[in-house]
Amino acid sequence: MTPTPMIELSHVSRLFDNAVAVDDISLQINSGELCVIVGTSGCGKSTTLRLLNKLISCSSGNIRIDGEDIAGLDAKLLRRRMGYAIQNTGLFPHWSVERNIGVVPTLLGWSPEKIKARVHELLELLSLPYAEFAHKFPSQLSGGQAQRVGVARALAGDPDILLMDEPFGALDPITRDSLQNELLRIQSQINKTIVFVTHDIDEALKLATRIVVMDKGRIVQHDTPANLLDRPVNEFVQSLLGQNERGLKRASLEPVKTHMQALSGDLPEHSVNVDDTLRQAMSLMYWHRTDILCVRDAENHAVGLLPMRALLDSPTA
Ligand SMILES: Nc1ncnc2c1ncn2[C@@H]1O[C@H](COP(=O)(O)OP(=O)(O)O)[C@@H](O)[C@H]1O
Ligand SMILES: [Mg+2]
Repeated sequence: MTPTPMIELSHVSRLFDNAVAVDDISLQINSGELCVIVGTSGCGKSTTLRLLNKLISCSSGNIRIDGEDIAGLDAKLLRRRMGYAIQNTGLFPHWSVERNIGVVPTLLGWSPEKIKARVHELLELLSLPYAEFAHKFPSQLSGGQAQRVGVARALAGDPDILLMDEPFGALDPITRDSLQNELLRIQSQINKTIVFVTHDIDEALKLATRIVVMDKGRIVQHDTPANLLDRPVNEFVQSLLGQNERGLKRASLEPVKTHMQALSGDLPEHSVNVDDTLRQAMSLMYWHRTDILCVRDAENHAVGLLPMRALLDSPTA
């Protein structure tokens, strides 16, 4: 049985002053997916996202959310069913973190006790202890903390859908990396349908269940990260992926686990974690000038061997 898509765009276009920003796109996103829209600046990513929550309207075509055509839905009510997190967070500067996160629940008419409990839960989910952060103001937060609050606010009304427009774009690489990991962890717990926009292909490859590549308002390819790397449909997608880096990006999608061999003989001197990627294993081999690693689990027990040769084998699972 094919699942009913949570989000379905059918021949959607949007013009601005006769210029086409989004050009006849059709797309289905299933419930629980983390769909990443990637492409160069000006290709229509943000416009696509804004069409979904009716911040702007379609010039033609239609959009269904959970089976319902949004043309007939009230924009404000629709927006309360979808979280929206953007690059510069859009937090109200004179409101505390708690009040900022409570915006949508307040609009939804929740009781003060229920709102407080929800804020508490979300701050903990985003690794911001309530006692420390609830009463701070946005100016008292670091960039990464403010972005976490922005994500908490987007999740506050418990929407089925979360729209994220370059939410980590302004952060330094280390903070960005940790927020990406947080998002993956949170998604494994809450299982929303997420549409995430970025111009960073590495961010897309790391986060996405499926990636939508856009160019000049059109969808060029819609595929899993692995398929995109294995079978880019044209030169544009190839160049976006970076010709010389393709092998390493592909190796980052492959876990050590599916390539390791059974233990035998002496344990190699250097180790890799079973949940690391082949890219990390290759880096360790190069660094230690060795062609074999011991694979260890989270408790540091040896669970297998990874000879360099095994990197070239097809995955075993
Ligand atoms: N409100 C607007 N008015 C006029 N043109 C716009 C508006 N929003 C976007 N555009 C144009 O539409 C195109 C796509 O923009 P956008 O969706 O913001 O791109 P991206 O998010 O991929 O960088 C660009 O050429 C942009 O200038
Ligand atoms: Mg944009």
